Amino acid sequence: MTAHEEKTVYPAKAEPGQSGGMAEYQAEYEASQADPAAFWDKIAQRLDWFHPYNSVCQGDFHSVAVNWFANGKLNVAHNCIDRHLKDRADQTAIIWEADDPADNRHISYAELHREVCRLANTLTASGVRRGDRVCIYLPMIPELAFTMLACARIGAIHSIVFAGFSADSLRDRILDCQAKVVVTANEGLRGGRVIALKQITDKAVEGIASVEKVMVVRRTEVEVEMKPGRDVWLHEELAKERAYCPATWMDAEDPLFILYTSGSTGKPKGVLHTTGGYLTYTSFTHERVFGYREGDIYFCAADIGWVTGHSYIIYGPLANGATTIMFESTPLYPDPGRYWEVIERHKVSIFYTAPTAIRALAAEGSSWVEKSDRSSLRVLGTVGEPINPEAWEWYYREVGKERCTIVDTWWQTETGGIMITPQPGVNDLKPGSATLPFYGIQPVIVNEKGEVQEGNGVSGHLCIGRPWPSMARTIWGDHERYLQTYFSTYKGYYFTGDGCRRDDDGYYWITGRVDDVLNVSGHRLGTAEIEASINGSELISESAVVGYPHKIKGTGIFAYVVLNRDAESTDPDVVEFSVREQVSRDIGKIARPDVVLLVKGLPKTRSGKIMRRILRKIAEHEYKKLGNTSTLADPSVVEGLIEAHQAFVEANPG
Ligand code: WTA
Repeated sequence: MTAHEEKTVYPAKAEPGQSGGMAEYQAEYEASQADPAAFWDKIAQRLDWFHPYNSVCQGDFHSVAVNWFANGKLNVAHNCIDRHLKDRADQTAIIWEADDPADNRHISYAELHREVCRLANTLTASGVRRGDRVCIYLPMIPELAFTMLACARIGAIHSIVFAGFSADSLRDRILDCQAKVVVTANEGLRGGRVIALKQITDKAVEGIASVEKVMVVRRTEVEVEMKPGRDVWLHEELAKERAYCPATWMDAEDPLFILYTSGSTGKPKGVLHTTGGYLTYTSFTHERVFGYREGDIYFCAADIGWVTGHSYIIYGPLANGATTIMFESTPLYPDPGRYWEVIERHKVSIFYTAPTAIRALAAEGSSWVEKSDRSSLRVLGTVGEPINPEAWEWYYREVGKERCTIVDTWWQTETGGIMITPQPGVNDLKPGSATLPFYGIQPVIVNEKGEVQEGNGVSGHLCIGRPWPSMARTIWGDHERYLQTYFSTYKGYYFTGDGCRRDDDGYYWITGRVDDVLNVSGHRLGTAEIEASINGSELISESAVVGYPHKIKGTGIFAYVVLNRDAESTDPDVVEFSVREQVSRDIGKIARPDVVLLVKGLPKTRSGKIMRRILRKIAEHEYKKLGNTSTLADPSVVEGLIEAHQAFVEANPG
C-alpha cells in the first residue's frame, strides 16, 4: 500500500434514510460502547420474541461464558417467515437463479412457509428431535434453504457442508457432529458440470452408525443407487406431510448451526452459533451495512456452504422480509457476463461478492459488464479477503459507474456477522480499507507482546475487546480448543488471527492472516490440513505449504514437497499430478496446490520446526529478504530451495 493509495478518499454518497451521516454514526457508536445492554436491548426489538429475555448480555472475555438475551424464547424460522405472512405472503422471498440462465423460480413467503413446514414435518417423521444434528450436503437449490429453515423450526442443529468438499471431508464433519440425517441431492449442477453428490455421500456415510437416514433431492433426472431402509427421495417423503408445523420455542442461547472451518491445526473445527444474538446481529447488519430498504432486490453471490451464505443469503435478509437471490451457477457460466445479466434480469439493488470474483471478471474486460443494464444497483459489497485497491476501483468505476457505495466488509465464520465495514451514506470510503467498526464492535490492536496499541497510525494483531451478540459460543465438542484458539493468545480479548493497521483517520486496513490459515479465493484453508493430505501420498516424505500472491485467487497455494527415498526417481510431473489428485480426493478441488515444488529438504530449526517465513519469501521471489537463517539446523538447505524455485520460474514464466 502506498501512501498515495491510502489518501484516496471517496466521499460518502447521499442515501435517503441516512441523513445523519457520520455524526449520527459516531453518536450511535458511542452509545453502543457506553451502554451495550441498553443499545442491544433496543436493537433486539426488531425480532419477534415469544417470551422476553431477562438480561441482555452476561459474561466477558475473561470468563468467556457469554450469554445474550438469556431466557428469551424465539424461533428463527418464525422470524424469517411466519411473521412476514401478514403483510407479505405474496412477496417473493427467494429468487432462485438456476445454473441454466433460462431457468429461475420465484418463491413467495407463503410458499416458503409451506415448503419449510413440510420439510420440518418430514425431519420429525424421520426421528429428528430438538438438538439433533442434520448434515446438509446440497448445491445452491431451494431445498437447501428449506432444509436449514426446517431445522431451525424444530430446533435441530444444521451443519452445512459446501458441495465442493470431498467424501473424506464430508465424512469427518458428519462424524464429528454425529449427524442423524444427511440431506443431499442425486446430482449437483454448476457451470454446466455435474457433481455426483449422492455417490460422494454414499462413500462418506459408509459405516457411520449415527446416520439413520439419507434424504435425496432429485435435482436432475439421473437415477442413483438407493440403500433400502436408509435412503429416501425427499419429494416422496414431502408428499406425505402437511404444510403446517408449529415453530418450536427455542432459547436465545440454543444452538442454531455448526459450520466447520479451517484453523491452524489439521482438523477443521465446528464453529457453533446460537439463536437470539445471531439473528439480532445478522438482521441488523444486513439492514445497515447494505442500506437495505423495502422493495430492494438483494443478491449475495456466495455459496450457502460458507458463513456468508448463512448470514447474508438466508438469515439476515429473510429476517428483514427481503427478496434474496440464490444463485446456483458460477460467475463465468455460460460467459463472464452472468452476474450482470442476473442483475439486469431481476433489477438487483444490492450486490455482494468476493474480491476473487471481481478480479476474475475484471480480467475478462469491461465489455461484459457493459452488456447489461446495471442502473438498479445502489450498493456493492465485498467479503472474504483483503480487496486490492485496483480491484476496488474496477468495481467502483466499471460496475457501479461511480454511483454506488462499495462496502468492504470484514468478518469471519466465528464472528457470525459483519464487524468492520463502511455504511452507505455514512462514511467516506478508501479503496482497500474496511473502514470503521460496526455498532457494538470494539476493535483492539495489540503488538506481539500483547500490548494494546492506542491511538491512530498503529498496526499489529486484530482483537475484539468485548462480546457481541453473534459471536461463536464454542467449538462443537471441544470447548477447550475454543478457549485456546481465540481467548488465550491475548488475555481478555477475542483474537481474530488477522493482522491490521489503523491509519491516521482511524480507518482499519486488514492485512491478512497472521496464523497458518490461507485465504484462497475467499475460501479458508489450513496449511496443516493440506500438508496432512500431501504427506498421505506414498511418494512424499514431508511437505510444507505456504501462501503466495496470486493474481485472481488473492492467495495461491504453494507446496514444497520432499520425496521418499525410494520414490526419488519419480518424474516430477507425476509427482505434481499425484499430489494435486491426493489433495482433491482428501479435501476437495479448492485445496489443490497451484505450485508443487520438489525440494531436497525443508528449512528447519534445530528443534525441528519448519521456518515458514523463509518458504513464504522464496515463493514470493524475495530471495534477498529471507532474514536470519543462522538458526537453521542446516543453513545450506536454503540454497537448494532457491535453486529449485529459480528453475521452476524459468520453466513457468509468468
Ligand atoms: C478474511 C468470511 C480483509 C480475514 C466472512 C478473515 C477479510 C477471514 C475480509 C475469515 C475483508 C474476510 N477484508 N480480509 N473484507 N473479509 N476476510 O471465516 O482474513 O471464511 O479472518 O469468513 O477472511 O474467513 P471466513
